Amino acid sequence: MLRVEDLYASYGKGDVLRGINLEVDEGETVAILGPNGAGKTTLLKSICGLVKTRGKIFFNGTEISKLKTHERISLGIAISPEGRRIFPRMSVRDNLLVTGFKDLEKVYEIFPKLKEREDQLAGTLSGGEQQMLAIARALMFKPKLLLLDEPSFGLAPVIVETLSQVVQKIRELGVSILLVEQNLSLVADVADRVYVLSNGEIVDSGDVSELGRMEKSYFS
Ligand SMILES: Nc1ncnc2c1ncn2[C@@H]1O[C@H](COP(=O)(O)OP(=O)(O)O)[C@@H](O)[C@H]1O
Ligand SMILES: [Mg+2]
Repeated sequence: MLRVEDLYASYGKGDVLRGINLEVDEGETVAILGPNGAGKTTLLKSICGLVKTRGKIFFNGTEISKLKTHERISLGIAISPEGRRIFPRMSVRDNLLVTGFKDLEKVYEIFPKLKEREDQLAGTLSGGEQQMLAIARALMFKPKLLLLDEPSFGLAPVIVETLSQVVQKIRELGVSILLVEQNLSLVADVADRVYVLSNGEIVDSGDVSELGRMEKSYFS
């Protein structure tokens, strides 16, 4: 479904990503682990066309590396960005409708809490609810591939469990997921495979069952 080949990315001087190769298959949930500054967000932005890149990105067999962001979105890629980026002074409903898509009920099925709060200003939601809103907004685009950038950031462990259930529901809908995370227990719950990104390069990859080994090598 997604194939990244020898990808380099830069914000002007020096390459932040250097020779990335990775794949996400249909229906798979793949995690990207790595410390702060490794280039995880840059990788997701590169897939969306928000950073200058060299190398190739294929989506369902089509090369998308030269396409504009909105063209990639219309092919079926959506992102829930780092830091959520919801509109705090708009209602929950309007945060979803700004996507230009109208089918709220499909998304409310996955997030019943958001339906209960649809008239509430998004800035008054709890951190966990704001994260759910950011994911819900991405799902409004009916993506085939959902990019999630550190959804667990700043959330209490009990909320991370809810998040884990939400991600599993989304994968049951058949949506492929590329999940950037530093929370290893969330990754263990939801991912099929894992890549480790360090200093702009993939330094390890494997089945999620190898997470323990990766944790010892890179996170202790
Ligand atoms: N907008 C930007 N302009 C210049 N450098 C950036 C920008 N965003 C990120 N970087 C740099 O790129 C590197 C990777 O950042 P990032 O992709 O945000 O890492 P991560 O998400 O893994 O924490 C860091 O060295 C960071 O300082
Ligand atoms: Mg980041």
